[in-house]
Amino acid sequence: MRSRVLSFFFFFLLFALGCSAHIRRPALKHAGFLSRGSFPEGFVFGTAASAYQVEGMALKAGRGPCIWDTFVRIPGNIAGNATADVTVDEYHRYKEDVDIMKKMNFDAYRFSISWSRIFPNGTGTVNWRGVHYYNRLINYMLKQGITPYANLYHYDLPQALQDEYLGWLSPKIVEAYANFADFCFKTYGDRVKNWFTFNEPRVVAALGYDDGTHAPGRCTNCSAGGNSSTEPYIVAHHLILCHAAAVKRYREKYQVHQQGRIGILLDFVWYEPLTNSISDQEAAHRSRDFHIGWFLHPITYGEYPKTMQEIVKERLPKFTREEVEMVKGSIDYVGVNQYTSYYIKDHPTTSQTPVSYSADWHVTFAYDRDGVPIGPRAHSDWLYIVPWGMYKAVTYVKETYGNPTIILSENGMDQPGNVTLPGALWDTVRINYYRSYIAKLKEAIDDGANVVGYFAWSLLDNFEWKLGYTSRFGLVYVDYSTLERYPKNSAYWFRNMLKGKNN
Ligand SMILES: *[C@@H]1O[C@H](CO)[C@@H](O)[C@H](O)[C@H]1NC(C)=O
Ligand SMILES: *[C@@H]1O[C@H](CO)[C@@H](O)[C@H](O)[C@H]1NC(C)=O
Ligand SMILES: *[C@@H]1O[C@H](CO)[C@@H](O)[C@H](O)[C@H]1NC(C)=O
Ligand SMILES: *[C@@H]1O[C@H](CO)[C@@H](O)[C@H](O)[C@H]1NC(C)=O
Ligand SMILES: *[C@@H]1O[C@H](CO)[C@@H](O)[C@H](O)[C@H]1NC(C)=O
Repeated sequence: MRSRVLSFFFFFLLFALGCSAHIRRPALKHAGFLSRGSFPEGFVFGTAASAYQVEGMALKAGRGPCIWDTFVRIPGNIAGNATADVTVDEYHRYKEDVDIMKKMNFDAYRFSISWSRIFPNGTGTVNWRGVHYYNRLINYMLKQGITPYANLYHYDLPQALQDEYLGWLSPKIVEAYANFADFCFKTYGDRVKNWFTFNEPRVVAALGYDDGTHAPGRCTNCSAGGNSSTEPYIVAHHLILCHAAAVKRYREKYQVHQQGRIGILLDFVWYEPLTNSISDQEAAHRSRDFHIGWFLHPITYGEYPKTMQEIVKERLPKFTREEVEMVKGSIDYVGVNQYTSYYIKDHPTTSQTPVSYSADWHVTFAYDRDGVPIGPRAHSDWLYIVPWGMYKAVTYVKETYGNPTIILSENGMDQPGNVTLPGALWDTVRINYYRSYIAKLKEAIDDGANVVGYFAWSLLDNFEWKLGYTSRFGLVYVDYSTLERYPKNSAYWFRNMLKGKNN
Protein backbone atom coordinates (compact mmCIF):
# COMPACT_ATOMS: atom_id res chain seq x y z
CA MET A 1 0.00 0.00 0.00
CA ARG A 2 2.64 2.43 1.12
CA SER A 3 4.60 1.93 -2.10
CA ARG A 4 1.47 2.52 -4.15
CA VAL A 5 0.95 5.85 -2.44
CA LEU A 6 4.61 6.65 -3.02
CA SER A 7 4.54 5.85 -6.70
CA PHE A 8 1.39 7.94 -7.08
CA PHE A 9 3.30 10.76 -5.47
CA PHE A 10 6.19 10.34 -7.88
CA PHE A 11 3.95 10.23 -10.90
CA PHE A 12 2.37 13.41 -9.69
CA LEU A 13 5.80 14.92 -9.19
CA LEU A 14 6.87 13.93 -12.70
CA PHE A 15 3.68 15.40 -14.12
CA ALA A 16 4.23 18.61 -12.23
CA LEU A 17 7.82 18.81 -13.45
CA GLY A 18 6.77 18.12 -17.01
CA CYS A 19 4.35 21.09 -16.76
CA SER A 20 7.06 23.42 -15.59
CA ALA A 21 9.92 22.82 -17.96
CA HIS A 22 11.82 25.85 -16.73
CA ILE A 23 12.45 24.10 -13.40
CA ARG A 24 15.81 22.26 -13.45
CA ARG A 25 15.11 18.53 -13.34
CA PRO A 26 16.29 17.27 -9.96
CA ALA A 27 18.10 13.93 -9.58
CA LEU A 28 15.10 11.69 -9.14
CA LYS A 29 15.87 8.96 -6.66
CA HIS A 30 12.91 6.75 -7.42
CA ALA A 31 14.03 3.52 -9.05
CA GLY A 32 11.41 3.78 -11.75
CA PHE A 33 13.27 6.70 -13.26
CA LEU A 34 16.63 4.99 -13.74
CA SER A 35 18.31 5.89 -16.99
CA ARG A 36 21.77 6.28 -18.43
CA GLY A 37 21.68 9.87 -17.29
CA SER A 38 21.44 8.69 -13.66
CA PHE A 39 25.01 7.39 -13.88
CA PRO A 40 28.37 9.12 -14.21
CA GLU A 41 29.74 10.03 -17.64
CA GLY A 42 31.25 7.01 -19.39
CA PHE A 43 29.53 4.46 -17.12
CA VAL A 44 29.40 1.10 -18.92
CA PHE A 45 26.47 -1.31 -18.98
CA GLY A 46 26.98 -4.86 -20.14
CA THR A 47 26.15 -8.49 -19.60
CA ALA A 48 28.45 -11.24 -18.41
CA ALA A 49 28.90 -14.93 -19.21
CA SER A 50 31.61 -17.57 -19.15
CA ALA A 51 33.10 -19.83 -21.80
CA TYR A 52 32.08 -23.11 -20.20
CA GLN A 53 28.50 -22.00 -19.62
CA VAL A 54 27.73 -20.67 -23.10
CA GLU A 55 30.17 -21.81 -25.79
CA GLY A 56 29.38 -25.49 -26.23
CA MET A 57 31.79 -27.34 -28.57
CA ALA A 58 33.27 -28.56 -25.29
CA LEU A 59 35.51 -31.25 -26.70
CA LYS A 60 35.51 -30.08 -30.30
CA ALA A 61 37.48 -27.86 -32.68
CA GLY A 62 40.68 -28.85 -30.95
CA ARG A 63 39.68 -27.86 -27.42
CA GLY A 64 41.25 -29.98 -24.69
CA PRO A 65 39.14 -31.24 -21.77
CA CYS A 66 38.84 -29.08 -18.66
CA ILE A 67 38.08 -30.21 -15.11
CA TRP A 68 34.36 -29.46 -15.58
CA ASP A 69 34.15 -31.84 -18.56
CA THR A 70 35.34 -34.56 -16.20
CA PHE A 71 33.15 -33.43 -13.32
CA VAL A 72 29.87 -33.31 -15.28
CA ARG A 73 30.41 -36.87 -16.47
CA ILE A 74 30.19 -38.25 -12.93
CA PRO A 75 26.51 -39.26 -12.55
CA GLY A 76 24.74 -37.33 -9.83
CA ASN A 77 27.03 -34.29 -9.92
CA ILE A 78 24.78 -32.20 -12.17
CA ALA A 79 20.98 -31.89 -12.13
CA GLY A 80 19.60 -34.16 -14.80
CA ASN A 81 23.16 -35.42 -15.47
CA ALA A 82 23.38 -32.51 -17.90
CA THR A 83 26.58 -31.49 -19.70
CA ALA A 84 27.73 -28.25 -21.32
CA ASP A 85 28.76 -30.01 -24.53
CA VAL A 86 26.27 -27.89 -26.47
CA THR A 87 24.64 -25.53 -23.93
CA VAL A 88 23.56 -22.40 -25.90
CA ASP A 89 26.13 -22.96 -28.68
CA GLU A 90 27.53 -19.44 -28.59
CA TYR A 91 30.57 -20.83 -30.39
CA HIS A 92 28.44 -20.82 -33.53
CA ARG A 93 25.81 -18.24 -32.56
CA TYR A 94 28.03 -15.46 -31.22
CA LYS A 95 26.93 -13.03 -33.92
CA GLU A 96 23.29 -13.47 -33.02
CA ASP A 97 24.16 -12.97 -29.33
CA VAL A 98 26.21 -9.84 -29.95
CA ASP A 99 23.36 -8.52 -32.12
CA ILE A 100 20.96 -9.03 -29.19
CA MET A 101 23.33 -7.10 -26.89
CA LYS A 102 23.40 -4.27 -29.38
CA LYS A 103 19.63 -4.29 -29.80
CA MET A 104 19.19 -4.09 -26.02
CA ASN A 105 21.50 -1.03 -25.95
CA PHE A 106 24.28 -2.67 -23.96
CA ASP A 107 27.80 -1.23 -24.26
CA ALA A 108 29.93 -4.21 -23.31
CA TYR A 109 30.21 -7.98 -23.00
CA ARG A 110 32.20 -9.71 -20.30
CA PHE A 111 33.16 -13.11 -21.68
CA SER A 112 35.82 -15.61 -20.65
CA ILE A 113 38.52 -17.34 -22.64
CA SER A 114 38.68 -21.11 -22.30
CA TRP A 115 42.29 -21.98 -21.41
CA SER A 116 42.04 -25.48 -22.89
CA ARG A 117 40.61 -24.11 -26.14
CA ILE A 118 43.86 -22.16 -26.55
CA PHE A 119 46.26 -24.65 -24.93
CA PRO A 120 44.57 -28.08 -25.01
CA ASN A 121 47.13 -29.45 -22.53
CA GLY A 122 47.38 -26.26 -20.49
CA THR A 123 50.88 -25.55 -21.83
CA GLY A 124 52.76 -26.27 -25.03
CA THR A 125 50.94 -26.63 -28.33
CA VAL A 126 48.54 -23.86 -29.33
CA ASN A 127 45.16 -24.76 -30.84
CA TRP A 128 44.85 -22.08 -33.50
CA ARG A 129 41.22 -22.90 -34.23
CA GLY A 130 40.49 -21.89 -30.64
CA VAL A 131 42.57 -18.73 -30.95
CA HIS A 132 40.63 -17.74 -34.05
CA TYR A 133 37.27 -18.28 -32.38
CA TYR A 134 38.03 -15.47 -29.93
CA ASN A 135 39.37 -13.32 -32.77
CA ARG A 136 36.04 -13.70 -34.55
CA LEU A 137 34.09 -12.96 -31.37
CA ILE A 138 36.16 -9.89 -30.43
CA ASN A 139 36.18 -8.49 -33.97
CA TYR A 140 32.45 -8.87 -34.30
CA MET A 141 31.83 -7.21 -30.93
CA LEU A 142 33.96 -4.24 -31.97
CA LYS A 143 32.17 -4.05 -35.31
CA GLN A 144 28.85 -3.84 -33.48
CA GLY A 145 30.06 -1.32 -30.92
CA ILE A 146 30.19 -3.78 -27.99
CA THR A 147 33.33 -3.34 -25.87
CA PRO A 148 35.09 -6.60 -24.93
CA TYR A 149 35.83 -7.29 -21.25
CA ALA A 150 37.89 -10.47 -21.30
CA ASN A 151 38.26 -12.76 -18.31
CA LEU A 152 41.02 -15.36 -18.39
CA TYR A 153 39.63 -17.96 -16.02
CA HIS A 154 36.13 -19.02 -15.08
CA TYR A 155 36.41 -22.42 -13.30
CA ASP A 156 37.68 -24.32 -16.38
CA LEU A 157 41.21 -25.58 -15.62
CA PRO A 158 42.73 -27.75 -18.37
CA GLN A 159 42.32 -31.36 -17.21
CA ALA A 160 45.90 -32.08 -18.29
CA LEU A 161 47.22 -29.82 -15.49
CA GLN A 162 44.94 -31.49 -12.94
CA ASP A 163 46.31 -34.88 -14.03
CA GLU A 164 49.91 -33.73 -14.11
CA TYR A 165 50.24 -31.99 -10.74
CA LEU A 166 46.77 -31.50 -9.20
CA GLY A 167 46.32 -28.08 -10.82
CA TRP A 168 45.81 -25.27 -8.31
CA LEU A 169 47.33 -27.33 -5.49
CA SER A 170 50.78 -27.06 -7.06
CA PRO A 171 53.00 -23.98 -7.24
CA LYS A 172 53.83 -25.09 -10.80
CA ILE A 173 50.50 -23.64 -11.86
CA VAL A 174 51.80 -20.08 -11.50
CA GLU A 175 54.16 -20.23 -14.48
CA ALA A 176 51.62 -22.15 -16.61
CA TYR A 177 48.88 -19.62 -15.90
CA ALA A 178 51.14 -16.60 -16.47
CA ASN A 179 52.18 -18.03 -19.84
CA PHE A 180 48.56 -18.56 -20.86
CA ALA A 181 47.70 -15.01 -19.76
CA ASP A 182 50.74 -13.63 -21.60
CA PHE A 183 49.64 -15.38 -24.78
CA CYS A 184 46.19 -13.79 -24.52
CA PHE A 185 47.58 -10.28 -23.89
CA LYS A 186 49.91 -10.66 -26.86
CA THR A 187 47.23 -12.07 -29.15
CA TYR A 188 44.13 -10.05 -28.24
CA GLY A 189 45.48 -7.02 -26.36
CA ASP A 190 45.53 -4.82 -29.46
CA ARG A 191 41.71 -4.94 -29.29
CA VAL A 192 40.90 -5.98 -25.69
CA LYS A 193 41.53 -3.11 -23.26
CA ASN A 194 39.73 -4.52 -20.23
CA TRP A 195 41.09 -7.68 -18.61
CA PHE A 196 40.32 -9.83 -15.61
CA THR A 197 42.59 -12.62 -14.37
CA PHE A 198 40.01 -14.70 -12.48
CA ASN A 199 36.32 -14.94 -11.87
CA GLU A 200 35.46 -15.74 -8.24
CA PRO A 201 38.69 -17.37 -7.07
CA ARG A 202 36.95 -17.84 -3.71
CA VAL A 203 34.41 -20.11 -5.34
CA VAL A 204 37.20 -22.07 -7.02
CA ALA A 205 38.83 -22.67 -3.63
CA ALA A 206 35.71 -23.13 -1.48
CA LEU A 207 33.42 -25.11 -3.75
CA GLY A 208 36.23 -27.04 -5.41
CA TYR A 209 38.20 -27.94 -2.24
CA ASP A 210 36.10 -27.22 0.88
CA ASP A 211 32.69 -28.74 0.13
CA GLY A 212 33.55 -30.43 -3.15
CA THR A 213 30.41 -29.32 -4.98
CA HIS A 214 32.38 -27.87 -7.92
CA ALA A 215 35.16 -29.40 -9.99
CA PRO A 216 37.52 -30.97 -9.10
CA GLY A 217 35.21 -32.10 -6.27
CA ARG A 218 37.76 -32.37 -3.49
CA CYS A 219 37.06 -32.19 0.26
CA THR A 220 37.82 -34.07 3.46
CA ASN A 221 35.22 -36.77 2.87
CA CYS A 222 35.00 -36.57 -0.92
CA SER A 223 35.62 -39.62 -3.07
CA ALA A 224 38.08 -37.57 -5.16
CA GLY A 225 40.18 -37.03 -2.01
CA GLY A 226 41.13 -33.72 -0.42
CA ASN A 227 41.45 -31.92 2.89
CA SER A 228 38.94 -29.15 3.62
CA SER A 229 41.05 -27.65 6.40
CA THR A 230 44.15 -27.07 4.29
CA GLU A 231 43.54 -27.31 0.53
CA PRO A 232 41.22 -24.29 0.12
CA TYR A 233 43.97 -22.07 1.57
CA ILE A 234 46.71 -23.56 -0.62
CA VAL A 235 44.56 -23.20 -3.72
CA ALA A 236 43.61 -19.59 -2.90
CA HIS A 237 47.25 -18.76 -2.30
CA HIS A 238 48.25 -20.09 -5.71
CA LEU A 239 45.32 -18.29 -7.36
CA ILE A 240 46.52 -15.00 -5.85
CA LEU A 241 50.07 -15.64 -7.02
CA CYS A 242 48.81 -16.56 -10.51
CA HIS A 243 46.78 -13.36 -10.62
CA ALA A 244 49.73 -11.25 -9.52
CA ALA A 245 52.15 -12.97 -11.92
CA ALA A 246 49.79 -12.35 -14.85
CA VAL A 247 49.32 -8.70 -13.89
CA LYS A 248 53.10 -8.31 -13.65
CA ARG A 249 53.46 -9.66 -17.19
CA TYR A 250 50.75 -7.33 -18.43
CA ARG A 251 52.25 -4.28 -16.79
CA GLU A 252 55.82 -5.04 -17.81
CA LYS A 253 55.26 -6.17 -21.39
CA TYR A 254 51.95 -4.85 -22.68
CA GLN A 255 50.18 -2.18 -20.70
CA VAL A 256 52.20 0.83 -21.83
CA HIS A 257 51.59 0.33 -25.54
CA GLN A 258 48.24 -1.48 -25.35
CA GLN A 259 46.79 1.08 -22.92
CA GLY A 260 44.44 -1.34 -21.17
CA ARG A 261 43.45 -2.10 -17.59
CA ILE A 262 43.53 -5.33 -15.59
CA GLY A 263 41.81 -6.56 -12.44
CA ILE A 264 40.14 -9.53 -10.77
CA LEU A 265 36.48 -10.52 -10.28
CA LEU A 266 35.44 -11.30 -6.69
CA ASP A 267 32.12 -12.61 -5.44
CA PHE A 268 30.77 -10.80 -2.39
CA VAL A 269 27.73 -11.58 -0.29
CA TRP A 270 26.73 -8.82 2.12
CA TYR A 271 26.90 -10.15 5.69
CA GLU A 272 24.66 -8.27 8.11
CA PRO A 273 24.99 -9.00 11.84
CA LEU A 274 21.89 -10.84 13.06
CA THR A 275 21.80 -8.75 16.25
CA ASN A 276 23.58 -5.66 17.50
CA SER A 277 25.70 -7.71 19.90
CA ILE A 278 29.43 -7.15 19.66
CA SER A 279 29.92 -10.86 18.98
CA ASP A 280 27.53 -10.86 15.99
CA GLN A 281 29.07 -7.66 14.63
CA GLU A 282 32.50 -9.23 14.85
CA ALA A 283 31.18 -12.42 13.29
CA ALA A 284 29.81 -10.47 10.32
CA HIS A 285 33.10 -8.66 9.94
CA ARG A 286 34.98 -11.96 10.11
CA SER A 287 32.71 -13.37 7.40
CA ARG A 288 33.53 -10.45 5.10
CA ASP A 289 37.23 -11.09 5.75
CA PHE A 290 36.94 -14.80 4.99
CA HIS A 291 34.92 -13.98 1.87
CA ILE A 292 36.18 -10.97 -0.10
CA GLY A 293 39.02 -10.09 2.28
CA TRP A 294 40.74 -13.42 1.58
CA PHE A 295 41.66 -11.96 -1.83
CA LEU A 296 41.17 -8.22 -1.68
CA HIS A 297 43.10 -7.72 1.57
CA PRO A 298 46.37 -9.19 0.21
CA ILE A 299 45.83 -7.43 -3.12
CA THR A 300 45.35 -4.09 -1.33
CA TYR A 301 47.57 -4.43 1.74
CA GLY A 302 49.97 -7.30 0.99
CA GLU A 303 48.75 -9.74 3.65
CA TYR A 304 45.74 -11.86 4.59
CA PRO A 305 43.20 -10.27 6.97
CA LYS A 306 44.26 -10.37 10.63
CA THR A 307 41.11 -12.34 11.55
CA MET A 308 42.16 -15.10 9.15
CA GLN A 309 45.77 -15.09 10.33
CA GLU A 310 44.61 -15.51 13.93
CA ILE A 311 42.22 -18.36 13.25
CA VAL A 312 43.88 -20.30 10.43
CA LYS A 313 47.43 -19.89 11.80
CA GLU A 314 49.97 -22.23 10.20
CA ARG A 315 47.44 -23.61 7.70
CA LEU A 316 47.42 -20.19 6.02
CA PRO A 317 50.31 -19.97 3.52
CA LYS A 318 52.60 -16.96 3.74
CA PHE A 319 53.77 -14.60 1.02
CA THR A 320 57.52 -14.06 0.69
CA ARG A 321 58.80 -10.48 0.54
CA GLU A 322 59.05 -10.62 -3.25
CA GLU A 323 55.55 -12.08 -3.49
CA VAL A 324 54.12 -9.31 -1.31
CA GLU A 325 55.64 -6.81 -3.69
CA MET A 326 54.03 -8.53 -6.65
CA VAL A 327 50.60 -9.04 -5.02
CA LYS A 328 50.15 -5.66 -3.34
CA GLY A 329 48.56 -3.17 -5.70
CA SER A 330 48.03 -5.76 -8.46
CA ILE A 331 44.73 -4.35 -9.74
CA ASP A 332 43.66 -1.36 -11.80
CA TYR A 333 40.04 -2.09 -10.81
CA VAL A 334 38.13 -4.72 -8.89
CA GLY A 335 35.09 -6.56 -10.22
CA VAL A 336 32.47 -7.27 -7.56
CA ASN A 337 29.87 -9.95 -8.23
CA GLN A 338 26.93 -9.10 -5.95
CA TYR A 339 23.66 -11.05 -5.77
CA THR A 340 22.55 -11.59 -2.19
CA SER A 341 22.89 -10.99 1.56
CA TYR A 342 22.62 -13.09 4.73
CA TYR A 343 22.41 -12.48 8.44
CA ILE A 344 25.36 -13.70 10.45
CA LYS A 345 25.43 -15.00 13.99
CA ASP A 346 28.54 -15.71 16.01
CA HIS A 347 29.26 -19.40 16.52
CA PRO A 348 32.04 -19.79 19.07
CA THR A 349 33.89 -23.05 18.81
CA THR A 350 35.64 -25.12 21.42
CA SER A 351 37.08 -27.62 18.95
CA GLN A 352 40.86 -27.70 18.86
CA THR A 353 40.99 -29.65 15.58
CA PRO A 354 40.45 -27.58 12.47
CA VAL A 355 37.73 -29.03 10.28
CA SER A 356 37.35 -26.88 7.18
CA TYR A 357 37.57 -23.40 5.66
CA SER A 358 33.85 -22.84 6.25
CA ALA A 359 34.07 -24.00 9.88
CA ASP A 360 36.97 -21.56 10.39
CA TRP A 361 34.53 -18.64 10.01
CA HIS A 362 32.99 -19.56 13.40
CA VAL A 363 29.61 -18.26 12.33
CA THR A 364 26.09 -19.43 11.54
CA PHE A 365 24.12 -18.07 8.60
CA ALA A 366 20.52 -16.92 9.11
CA TYR A 367 17.94 -16.04 6.48
CA ASP A 368 15.41 -14.35 8.70
CA ARG A 369 15.36 -12.09 11.74
CA ASP A 370 12.54 -12.39 14.29
CA GLY A 371 10.64 -14.48 11.77
CA VAL A 372 10.96 -11.89 8.97
CA PRO A 373 12.82 -13.27 5.93
CA ILE A 374 15.83 -11.24 4.79
CA GLY A 375 14.15 -11.21 1.38
CA PRO A 376 12.20 -13.42 -1.01
CA ARG A 377 14.19 -16.30 -2.50
CA ALA A 378 14.91 -16.67 -6.19
CA HIS A 379 15.14 -20.20 -7.62
CA SER A 380 18.71 -20.90 -6.42
CA ASP A 381 18.71 -21.84 -2.75
CA TRP A 382 21.51 -19.33 -1.99
CA LEU A 383 19.87 -16.35 -3.70
CA TYR A 384 17.76 -14.14 -1.44
CA ILE A 385 16.63 -10.87 -3.00
CA VAL A 386 18.05 -8.09 -0.79
CA PRO A 387 18.56 -4.82 -2.70
CA TRP A 388 19.91 -2.90 0.31
CA GLY A 389 22.79 -5.42 0.49
CA MET A 390 24.06 -4.00 -2.82
CA TYR A 391 24.49 -0.57 -1.26
CA LYS A 392 26.22 -1.99 1.81
CA ALA A 393 28.52 -4.34 -0.12
CA VAL A 394 29.74 -1.66 -2.53
CA THR A 395 30.11 0.92 0.24
CA TYR A 396 32.06 -1.58 2.35
CA VAL A 397 34.51 -2.25 -0.50
CA LYS A 398 34.91 1.50 -0.97
CA GLU A 399 35.58 2.13 2.71
CA THR A 400 37.66 -0.93 3.55
CA TYR A 401 39.95 -1.12 0.55
CA GLY A 402 40.84 2.50 -0.16
CA ASN A 403 38.06 3.47 -2.55
CA PRO A 404 39.19 1.34 -5.49
CA THR A 405 37.75 1.63 -8.98
CA ILE A 406 34.90 -0.90 -8.94
CA ILE A 407 33.05 -2.66 -11.71
CA LEU A 408 29.82 -4.26 -10.51
CA SER A 409 30.63 -7.30 -12.58
CA GLU A 410 27.69 -9.66 -11.92
CA ASN A 411 24.18 -9.23 -10.63
CA GLY A 412 21.01 -11.11 -11.46
CA MET A 413 18.47 -13.73 -10.41
CA ASP A 414 17.21 -17.08 -11.61
CA GLN A 415 13.89 -18.75 -12.19
CA PRO A 416 13.22 -22.49 -12.49
CA GLY A 417 14.34 -24.24 -15.66
CA ASN A 418 10.94 -25.69 -16.36
CA VAL A 419 9.03 -22.41 -16.78
CA THR A 420 7.30 -22.53 -20.14
CA LEU A 421 7.75 -20.03 -22.89
CA PRO A 422 4.97 -17.47 -22.69
CA GLY A 423 5.24 -17.30 -18.89
CA ALA A 424 9.04 -17.10 -18.88
CA LEU A 425 8.96 -13.93 -20.95
CA TRP A 426 6.85 -12.07 -18.35
CA ASP A 427 9.67 -11.90 -15.82
CA THR A 428 8.37 -9.03 -13.72
CA VAL A 429 10.20 -10.38 -10.66
CA ARG A 430 13.49 -10.06 -12.54
CA ILE A 431 12.70 -6.51 -13.68
CA ASN A 432 11.95 -5.56 -10.08
CA TYR A 433 15.19 -7.22 -8.98
CA TYR A 434 17.28 -5.25 -11.47
CA ARG A 435 15.46 -1.99 -10.89
CA SER A 436 15.86 -2.15 -7.12
CA TYR A 437 19.49 -3.38 -7.09
CA ILE A 438 20.62 -0.87 -9.71
CA ALA A 439 18.88 1.91 -7.76
CA LYS A 440 20.87 0.88 -4.67
CA LEU A 441 24.06 0.79 -6.72
CA LYS A 442 23.31 4.32 -7.88
CA GLU A 443 22.86 5.41 -4.26
CA ALA A 444 26.28 4.00 -3.41
CA ILE A 445 27.77 5.88 -6.37
CA ASP A 446 26.01 9.10 -5.34
CA ASP A 447 27.56 8.58 -1.89
CA GLY A 448 31.07 8.35 -3.32
CA ALA A 449 31.71 4.77 -4.48
CA ASN A 450 33.92 4.81 -7.55
CA VAL A 451 31.88 2.40 -9.68
CA VAL A 452 32.49 2.63 -13.43
CA GLY A 453 30.41 -0.19 -14.86
CA TYR A 454 27.60 -2.69 -14.31
CA PHE A 455 27.20 -6.16 -15.81
CA ALA A 456 24.00 -8.20 -15.58
CA TRP A 457 24.27 -11.97 -15.27
CA SER A 458 23.42 -13.08 -17.86
CA LEU A 459 22.34 -12.27 -21.40
CA LEU A 460 21.05 -15.80 -22.00
CA ASP A 461 19.77 -18.69 -19.96
CA ASN A 462 22.69 -21.12 -19.86
CA PHE A 463 24.43 -24.03 -18.14
CA GLU A 464 24.26 -23.17 -14.43
CA TRP A 465 26.98 -25.50 -13.00
CA LYS A 466 25.51 -28.02 -10.54
CA LEU A 467 21.98 -26.93 -11.43
CA GLY A 468 22.56 -27.72 -15.10
CA TYR A 469 19.58 -26.35 -17.03
CA THR A 470 17.18 -26.30 -14.06
CA SER A 471 17.97 -22.62 -13.42
CA ARG A 472 17.48 -19.71 -15.82
CA PHE A 473 19.41 -16.48 -15.18
CA GLY A 474 18.92 -15.02 -18.66
CA LEU A 475 17.46 -11.75 -19.89
CA VAL A 476 16.82 -13.90 -22.93
CA TYR A 477 15.03 -17.24 -22.81
CA VAL A 478 16.67 -20.13 -24.62
CA ASP A 479 14.64 -23.04 -25.93
CA TYR A 480 17.15 -25.84 -25.43
CA SER A 481 15.61 -28.06 -28.07
CA THR A 482 15.94 -25.48 -30.88
CA LEU A 483 18.51 -23.09 -29.31
CA GLU A 484 16.17 -20.31 -30.36
CA ARG A 485 16.60 -17.08 -28.31
CA TYR A 486 13.55 -15.14 -27.02
CA PRO A 487 14.17 -11.83 -25.19
CA LYS A 488 12.27 -11.64 -21.93
CA ASN A 489 10.59 -8.44 -20.71
CA SER A 490 13.66 -7.78 -18.56
CA ALA A 491 15.76 -7.50 -21.73
CA TYR A 492 13.37 -4.84 -23.03
CA TRP A 493 13.48 -3.13 -19.64
CA PHE A 494 17.24 -2.74 -20.09
CA ARG A 495 16.78 -1.58 -23.67
CA ASN A 496 14.47 1.14 -22.47
CA MET A 497 16.65 2.17 -19.54
CA LEU A 498 19.77 2.26 -21.72
CA LYS A 499 18.37 4.15 -24.69
CA GLY A 500 20.28 7.20 -25.84
CA LYS A 501 23.63 5.43 -26.09
CA ASN A 502 25.94 8.13 -27.40
CA ASN A 503 28.73 6.57 -29.40
C1 LIG B 1 22.03 -39.78 -13.53
O1 LIG B 1 22.76 -40.94 -13.85
C2 LIG B 1 22.67 -41.96 -12.85
C3 LIG B 1 23.59 -43.10 -13.26
O2 LIG B 1 23.39 -43.44 -14.60
C4 LIG B 1 21.23 -42.40 -12.69
O3 LIG B 1 21.14 -43.35 -11.66
C5 LIG B 1 20.37 -41.21 -12.35
O4 LIG B 1 19.02 -41.57 -12.30
C6 LIG B 1 20.55 -40.11 -13.39
N1 LIG B 1 19.80 -38.93 -12.97
C7 LIG B 1 18.97 -38.30 -13.77
C8 LIG B 1 18.27 -37.12 -13.16
O5 LIG B 1 18.81 -38.61 -14.93
C1 LIG C 1 48.53 -33.36 -25.07
O1 LIG C 1 49.22 -34.33 -24.33
C2 LIG C 1 48.98 -35.66 -24.78
C3 LIG C 1 49.64 -36.62 -23.82
O2 LIG C 1 50.96 -36.22 -23.56
C4 LIG C 1 49.47 -35.80 -26.20
O3 LIG C 1 49.17 -37.09 -26.69
C5 LIG C 1 48.76 -34.78 -27.07
O4 LIG C 1 49.30 -34.79 -28.37
C6 LIG C 1 48.94 -33.36 -26.51
N1 LIG C 1 48.10 -32.45 -27.27
C7 LIG C 1 48.55 -31.27 -27.71
C8 LIG C 1 47.60 -30.44 -28.48
O5 LIG C 1 49.67 -30.88 -27.46
C1 LIG D 1 33.98 -36.44 7.54
O1 LIG D 1 33.32 -37.64 7.95
C2 LIG D 1 33.46 -37.90 9.34
C3 LIG D 1 32.90 -39.28 9.61
O2 LIG D 1 31.62 -39.39 9.06
C4 LIG D 1 32.75 -36.80 10.12
O3 LIG D 1 32.87 -37.03 11.52
C5 LIG D 1 33.38 -35.46 9.77
O4 LIG D 1 32.65 -34.43 10.38
C6 LIG D 1 33.39 -35.24 8.26
N1 LIG D 1 34.20 -34.06 7.99
C7 LIG D 1 33.80 -33.08 7.21
C8 LIG D 1 34.71 -31.91 7.04
O5 LIG D 1 32.73 -33.09 6.61
C1 LIG E 1 44.36 -32.34 6.78
O1 LIG E 1 45.64 -31.77 6.90
C2 LIG E 1 46.00 -31.50 8.26
C3 LIG E 1 47.31 -30.75 8.22
O2 LIG E 1 48.23 -31.45 7.42
C4 LIG E 1 46.08 -32.80 9.02
O3 LIG E 1 46.39 -32.55 10.36
C5 LIG E 1 44.72 -33.48 8.95
O4 LIG E 1 44.79 -34.75 9.57
C6 LIG E 1 44.29 -33.67 7.52
N1 LIG E 1 42.91 -34.12 7.51
C7 LIG E 1 42.49 -35.12 6.76
C8 LIG E 1 41.06 -35.46 6.87
O5 LIG E 1 43.24 -35.70 5.99
C1 LIG F 1 9.53 -27.35 -11.96
O1 LIG F 1 10.66 -27.79 -11.23
C2 LIG F 1 10.52 -27.64 -9.83
C3 LIG F 1 11.83 -28.06 -9.21
O2 LIG F 1 12.87 -27.28 -9.73
C4 LIG F 1 9.36 -28.49 -9.35
O3 LIG F 1 9.18 -28.31 -7.97
C5 LIG F 1 8.10 -28.08 -10.09
O4 LIG F 1 7.06 -28.96 -9.74
C6 LIG F 1 8.30 -28.14 -11.59
N1 LIG F 1 7.14 -27.59 -12.26
C7 LIG F 1 6.66 -28.09 -13.36
C8 LIG F 1 5.50 -27.37 -13.95
O5 LIG F 1 7.10 -29.09 -13.87
